[in-house]
Amino acid sequence: MSEKKPYSKPTIVRHSVGVLNKFGRPPATIPLKRIDGFNVDELVDQYGSPLFVLSVQTLRDQYKNLNRAFKTRYPNFQIAYSYKTNYLKSVCSILHQEGAWAEVVSGFEYDIARDLENPGNQIVFNGPYKTRDELIRAFKDGAMINIDNFDEMQLMEDIAEEMGKSLEVGIRINMDLNDPPWHKFGFNVESGQAFAAVKRAEADSKLKVVGLHMHAGTYIDDVSIYSRAAQGMVNFYTAIKEQLNVTLKYWDMGGGYASHNTLHTAYLPAEQTCPTYDQYAESICPFLLSGPFQAADAPLLLIEPGRSLVDEPFSLVTSVVAQKRLPSGQRGIVLDAGMNLMSSVQWYRYNFQLAQDAGQMLEDTVVYGGLCMNIDVLQQSTSIPPVRRGDILVIPQVGAYNISQSWQFIYLRPSIVAIENGKIHVIKKAEEREYVQQFEHVPDEFKA
Ligand SMILES: Cc1ncc(COP(=O)(O)O)c(C=O)c1O
Repeated sequence: MSEKKPYSKPTIVRHSVGVLNKFGRPPATIPLKRIDGFNVDELVDQYGSPLFVLSVQTLRDQYKNLNRAFKTRYPNFQIAYSYKTNYLKSVCSILHQEGAWAEVVSGFEYDIARDLENPGNQIVFNGPYKTRDELIRAFKDGAMINIDNFDEMQLMEDIAEEMGKSLEVGIRINMDLNDPPWHKFGFNVESGQAFAAVKRAEADSKLKVVGLHMHAGTYIDDVSIYSRAAQGMVNFYTAIKEQLNVTLKYWDMGGGYASHNTLHTAYLPAEQTCPTYDQYAESICPFLLSGPFQAADAPLLLIEPGRSLVDEPFSLVTSVVAQKRLPSGQRGIVLDAGMNLMSSVQWYRYNFQLAQDAGQMLEDTVVYGGLCMNIDVLQQSTSIPPVRRGDILVIPQVGAYNISQSWQFIYLRPSIVAIENGKIHVIKKAEEREYVQQFEHVPDEFKA
């Protein structure tokens, strides 16, 4: 006798046939089967799922395009790559090959930059917390160190006294540019604190201010913020030059340039709203060039891009491990990658593209990560075609912050491969349990 099938509540679900959507974007029914010439399913066969894949050519192109946009508008320009965005050694090294300097915000990152053979004078050292030993080392190396707060200034004055010489420093400033303003870092201009900081640094011969630094925020897609920041820099420089006789060697406009990922709060997709590198450069360079100097003596202009360089070159390849029908009637799918590898899902509405042919019927779907946690939702609602367990999805443009902020939580972190010139390189092997637990110790007293 055949067994009776379990009852499941009937639901009516809207399907739409995948033609161009209202934004003119290609529908999710067009599969993304290959990355830089390699079949995605073969990459998974060889390196497992999930898997981060870096397109090296895309990374190099991003750097070249950004560099060109600023170099053609300002006579003395240099990119210092923001390590925190993705400090895989291969990523930093490729960018150094292209000519980038390093921007670091901790001793850990500083060590990576030195290991990659950056001379000290090509490292920008930022951040609110730098230890005494780290500062001493960085000063000896000739790094560009930007002071964040008065306590740090005091520490540097002590170090200068100890070293018996005057130390060149930069001052991080902040301005009321965005809402809410970024006041956590540096000294505020409008309140007079930034001027007071330069005045104090210059008051005796221990410190000498040669740099100004600001980083007004991240994913700034309104270029007028940069124009106001650049104008504010010029005004501030003019004031400290005239009143305190400061001459800058460099000024640093920080990072913040948006990548082509769409924010949850955005109506239009990012590829239609995100400024180009030329627009960013045009919103900064002409303002700075109106500063108190001749073009031939222009201070070095530094920028510290992160996400705009490294988001685009990386994809996350992931597999469907289950699908389910929710009580609301909505389809749910569970992937083998979750927020542990995708911290930026908090901000971005990522695209999910199937790596194999799929039907034309798009269905509203909630995409869950594989963590056994209710918050692990990668997308509350997206239209994707029918999928089955084992199907592969590609999430493009995931290179910024997701890897450096990934967590080892209940699963081991996956392999990372880089593709260039028809060759695949493993740039990080998948973690093993022994590695994760190597520093643990169970005292005899605790043994079962
Ligand atoms: C000081 C500094 N510079 C540069 C960056 C890079 O920013 P983004 O990734 O938005 O370009 C950051 C990131 O927050 C930062 O704190």
